[in-house]
Amino acid sequence: MRLKGKTALVTGGRQGIGRAIVERLADEGARVMTCGRAYRPSDLPKEIGWQVADVSDGASVRKLAGQVRATFGGLSILVNNAGVQIEKTLAETTDADWDRLMGTNAKGVFLCCREMIPLMERGGSIINIGSVSGNTADPGLALYNASKAFVHGLTRSIAVDHGPAIRCNAILPGWIMTGMADAAFALASDPDRAKADALSRHPAGRFGQGSDIAALAAWLACDEAGFATGQCYTLDGGLTAASPLNPGLF
Ligand SMILES: NC(=O)c1ccc[n+]([C@@H]2O[C@H](COP(=O)([O-])OP(=O)(O)OC[C@H]3O[C@@H](n4cnc5c(N)ncnc54)[C@H](OP(=O)(O)O)[C@@H]3O)[C@@H](O)[C@H]2O)c1
Repeated sequence: MRLKGKTALVTGGRQGIGRAIVERLADEGARVMTCGRAYRPSDLPKEIGWQVADVSDGASVRKLAGQVRATFGGLSILVNNAGVQIEKTLAETTDADWDRLMGTNAKGVFLCCREMIPLMERGGSIINIGSVSGNTADPGLALYNASKAFVHGLTRSIAVDHGPAIRCNAILPGWIMTGMADAAFALASDPDRAKADALSRHPAGRFGQGSDIAALAAWLACDEAGFATGQCYTLDGGLTAASPLNPGLF
């Protein structure tokens, strides 16, 4: 119960990583609200608040901030998790792709931070979900990679400008088995082979689960992590630890 007495907003908690974070923060004692672009999921525990909100839309995020204030009075934890992926190179990317992807992954994080920071009058912890793809370029994910690099940079700026009252960190997941990961593997010419190859590159011997990310998010949210700010924490089962040079040579 490390989060007893705290209030949390997690964006994009319908499914996947966001849902795992919602449930973990609630298990640790926080009062939690989450949001998505449509109806409340029928299996969301009743003690979790749900708001319809589109993080890429300024008016929608301002309304969400009003709902957080009306419900909780203030906010201790913000998890910017909502995100989309578009599998295209830069040359294939349309203006509409830019608006959808950067609107959600970059502008959405900016808007939520800007509108929620004033609610963190008693101090707060912001946790942004970045990606290992923001540090090294995954082929065919040009804007996605760039959007996550933006998130990592904004994380450091918020920590520098708003500390010590507000701590801000990013979690950089590797392969986490969610709908987004399934969709990416499905695009490969041989999805089973692509999955087996990716798995073989994990020193941990497995892909990640939403609960892995949720465990780190819960620690970053709690007071025990008071010295942690302005950092990007990779959590990828060791995927990016290996040198890409000379695979299998020795
Ligand atoms: N899975 C991985 O391997 C992996 C790796 C690295 C980073 N990540 C990052 O982790 C985060 C979660 O990914 P995931 O794998 O859990 O994806 P997911 O299963 O596709 O879930 C994404 C969530 O984001 C919400 N969302 C999307 N656009 C939104 C918007 N404009 N406003 C509000 N909510 C929105 C969706 O909810 P609605 O449909 O209800 O709006 C959905 O609940 C993302 O930021 C992703 O980039 C994932």
